Amino acid sequence: MNNDERRILIIGANSDVALALLPLLHANGHPLLLTSRDRERLQGRVDALALPGPEITTMTLDISDMTAAEAFWQGHAESIQGVFIFAGLMPQQADASGSSELSKQVWATNFTGPARFAELAAATFAERGLGFICALSSVAGERGRAANYTYGSAKAGFSAFLSGLRNRYDRQGVKVITVIPGFMRTKMTQGMPLSGPLTVSAEEAAKSIYKAWIKGRDVTYVPGIWRYIMRVIRNIPEFVFKETNI
Ligand SMILES: NC(=O)c1ccc[n+]([C@@H]2O[C@H](COP(=O)([O-])OP(=O)(O)OC[C@H]3O[C@@H](n4cnc5c(N)ncnc54)[C@H](OP(=O)(O)O)[C@@H]3O)[C@@H](O)[C@H]2O)c1
Repeated sequence: MNNDERRILIIGANSDVALALLPLLHANGHPLLLTSRDRERLQGRVDALALPGPEITTMTLDISDMTAAEAFWQGHAESIQGVFIFAGLMPQQADASGSSELSKQVWATNFTGPARFAELAAATFAERGLGFICALSSVAGERGRAANYTYGSAKAGFSAFLSGLRNRYDRQGVKVITVIPGFMRTKMTQGMPLSGPLTVSAEEAAKSIYKAWIKGRDVTYVPGIWRYIMRVIRNIPEFVFKETNI
């Protein structure tokens, strides 16, 4: 995307899609800083890829902990050229509905933590006049559904935040890319009945995200057909939608 030789930061790098994106970024010559709540597991998965070339560093970061995230950013901002945010948490709706703690964690992992981090990063990049934030939201954020509205509400907030960030910072050289996946076959969706043609593998998703990043897209759906599906779903009148089981 640019010739900045600083590191690319990936938040939530234990994501199956993030792991599939690593070789693509790395082959492009970018040194990487990867974070996860479980650094040991992440390091094992990175070692297994055995990628030769630029340095890959792993660190611990819980993005739902805003104080820790802010300290992390202050400590590393200077060495970072751009950020991918993959962290996400999607429990069963019944579990989220039954627990204030879990609801809070879902909002903090999918919205408030990543949004605050993106704000800090964007401000740094704006001062530099160069940088990017590429973050994963979800189609779940485009219309609240009975099946996952706690998660969906967090992603809705995150999408709106990213849109505002882009509107504020684009003219200052900060590229904000919102990735809106439909269904991806990863550990997040393991055991869920997923519709074949509307679902992509982690590797296919990573390729689409890489392409969107290279092209500097504003908003990209993965796979692309979800742009049209969501256009229809968003336009279903509420009195009809509330009777459906989509
Ligand atoms: N799979 C889908 O169908 C789908 C659809 C739409 C959107 N998405 C979004 O796409 C992104 C990637 O998801 P994925 O499918 O690759 O799922 P995944 O493999 O489960 O990855 C999600 C990652 O988020 C990390 N995470 C969870 N809580 C965190 C926290 N508090 N701080 C930092 N990291 C945290 C986890 O890593 P650690 O446990 O190592 O911290 C986990 O590896 C997520 O934002 C997800 O919401 C996925």
